[in-house]
Order: sequence, then structure tokens, then C-alpha cells
Amino acid sequence: MLQLSDILEARDRVWETSRHTPLAHSYTYSKMTDADVYLKLENFQRTGAFKIRGATNRIATLSAAEKDAGVVTASAGNHAQGVALAASRTGVDATIVMPEDAPISKVNATQSYGGDVVLSGADYDEAAERAHEIEREEGRTYVHAFDDPYVMAGQGTLGLEILEDCPDVETVIVPIGGGGLISGIAVAIKEKRPDVRVIGVQAEGAASAAAALEKGELVTLDGVDTVADGIATRSIGTQTFEVISEYVDEVVTVPDSEIAMAVVYLLERSKTLVEGAGAVGLAALLFEHFEFEPDETIVPLISGGNIDLNTLTTVIVRGLVETGRYLKIRTVLEDRPGALEDLLAVLSGYRANIYAIQHDRTSRDIGMSDTEVEIDLETRGPDHVAELIDAIEDAGYPVEVLV
Ligand SMILES: Cc1ncc(COP(=O)(O)O)c(C=O)c1O
Repeated sequence: MLQLSDILEARDRVWETSRHTPLAHSYTYSKMTDADVYLKLENFQRTGAFKIRGATNRIATLSAAEKDAGVVTASAGNHAQGVALAASRTGVDATIVMPEDAPISKVNATQSYGGDVVLSGADYDEAAERAHEIEREEGRTYVHAFDDPYVMAGQGTLGLEILEDCPDVETVIVPIGGGGLISGIAVAIKEKRPDVRVIGVQAEGAASAAAALEKGELVTLDGVDTVADGIATRSIGTQTFEVISEYVDEVVTVPDSEIAMAVVYLLERSKTLVEGAGAVGLAALLFEHFEFEPDETIVPLISGGNIDLNTLTTVIVRGLVETGRYLKIRTVLEDRPGALEDLLAVLSGYRANIYAIQHDRTSRDIGMSDTEVEIDLETRGPDHVAELIDAIEDAGYPVEVLV
């Protein structure tokens, strides 16, 4: 099993390619939770996520012959970029197999870090099959994204940084996908400071570690469904399961709605761009998925910031809806001149700004002398939404809330 000494050794290698990322106190989240909250901002890591730490350690520990033969991996996400940069910075050739429909932004980023990208397969599993074929055909070393002690040890260097930069830490919150990140961090923290709690967080739609811990054996989910694509993993690893079972205090899950709100808070309040997987720890804290004491010193690890801009748009709208800042309703008006103006007067009386409006006479669900209107509104929070809906209904219009 992974040892603290492996992580201390990894640290001497990881600094060659990786940054010691900042730890920032947050007044906002401390006030919201009554705890003392510090964010570990690993979204500012090279390549935008922690993966370069584990990849660097794995590559640095290869023999000279293995380095000459190069490495191969499969990934559509942060691991691809981490391996590409770690390899090119240490003069090792890296082939990265990505699914054929991987987002072009991720393909470009991986190539720009020096990776040789092969597009193959309809999904991650098929890409991984191709990567293993290349491993056999070309004698390359396969760099696993999480179930490898060197990879875990590299990620564990984050635990050392947290203990050094925040000696008063009482609880660390870590996202879990395949479990390599939390395995390294938990060993580093528990071996040095057994009094510090380590809490793992998964998306509700990809909760394979939570299921495995409950069952006492590995569980492979039939499918995953979450906006946090970085942790949309069907199963944790055999080795990571062992470490998590021994070292992690608690694993909790958060729904996508809360992940979206955490991404929006991080953008708006902390001025920092974080992907869904990177925001689950903060979501678990803000929405109290575990117990903590007033003034407890808590560090959510913000593990990455690589979010596709289309996904970001969806997440922002969802986050605004969840926090009462965006409302979409459908109502019915008489089909006569001035009817829309009357409705708009109600909205403007409550200072609700209109993003979009659609007026439709053709719906089969309404009378021939009526018209249906869908309106997207900018609102100022849950109380404003409730007041507005009451006011529209009091003025005699039916209201169906669409989002
Ligand atoms: C941003 C981000 N956070 C967390 C994780 C989870 O790491 P692990 O798979 O080692 O549990 C990943 C995995 O890709 C990730 O990309």
C-alpha cells in the first residue's frame, strides 16, 4: 500500500513540472458556513488541474529504457493534458488516445502540451482499448489515470502543501473520480496528522466510491450522469479502493444543482473559473453534506478549472436558476392589442428584467382567443421570484414555472 515516504519522494520530482498552488482564505464562504474556510486553488496548476503531479511522478520513476520507449494513456480530460505536459517537459514521447468525439478544445490543448493525439473509439472504454494495444505494439508504458501508486503519490503532494500552508487545518475536502487524488492526499495527511479529517465528495450521478464503501467491494456503475465530467467515472480502482477504505473518514455525494451553484459562487464571489469536478468539495461544504463545528478550519480542494465553454454556459444558467436569479415562466393572455403591455407592466412594477420573450398563438393547449407567452427573466433571488409569481397570479394570469 502507498506510504508517506512515496509521497515525500514524489515531491522531489513533482516540482520540476508543477507549481505549488495558492491557498486562499475565503471571507465569503467562512461567513456562509460559520467555519474558517481556505480554498486550495489547484485550478491554477499548470494544465489547469492536479493531474500533472501524478503523471510527472510516474514518468520520472521509469527506467531509462522505458523512458526511451515512451508512454501511452487514454483520456478525454485533464489526465490527457497532465501526461502530455509532464512527458514533454521531461523529454519523453507521449501518445494520448482520445475518443473520436472528444471536444476539440481538449484535443488542441493536449497537442499544444506536446502530446501525440490519436483519436480512436466512441467512448473512453474504446479509447483505452486502443491505448492498451499501442502499449503492447510499441512497448510503451501505460500511465493509468488513478490506479497506480506513483500516480497517487504524485497527487499526494497536494496533501503536503495543504498541511504546510494551513497548519491549523481540521478538515480537507477532496473530489473523487477514480480515487487517485484522494488516496494520495489521505495518506499524506493521515500519516502526518491523524487528527485531520479527510472527506471525499462524488457527484450523485457518479457515486462509485460511495457504493463500493457501502457494499464493501468494488462496484461498477451501469452508467454515469453528471455535469462534473472530470469525475464521471464508473468505478474507482482496486488500489484506490483499498486506500480509501483505510484512510478516508467519510464519502458524501452532491447533486448537479449544487455543483452548478458552487461553480457560479466561485466565478462571482471568488473570481475564479472552476470546472464541475473541481467545485464538488465546496458544494459539499456550502450545502452541509457533512457535520462541522463553528470556526472549524476547512480546506475544500478546488481540483481543476478546465471547463468547456458550452458546458459553462449551461452550468451558469442552472446555477442562476437554482439561486433564484433566473426564471422562465409560461402564461396565457387574451389575444388583443395591449394585453402583453398589461402583463409587462406587472413585471416592471417588480423590477424583473426580461432576457427573452416568445409570443405564440398557435399552441393547441389554449383557447382560440388566447395567446401563450414564455418569458425568461432576470430575478434577484428566491424571495423576489416568489413575490413576482404571486403578483402575476394576483393580476389574473396563470403561471407555469419552466425553470
Ligand atoms: C478536476 C478533477 N478533479 C478531481 C478528479 C478526481 O481525481 P481521481 O480520478 O484521481 O479521483 C479529476 C479526475 O480526472 C479531475 O479531473
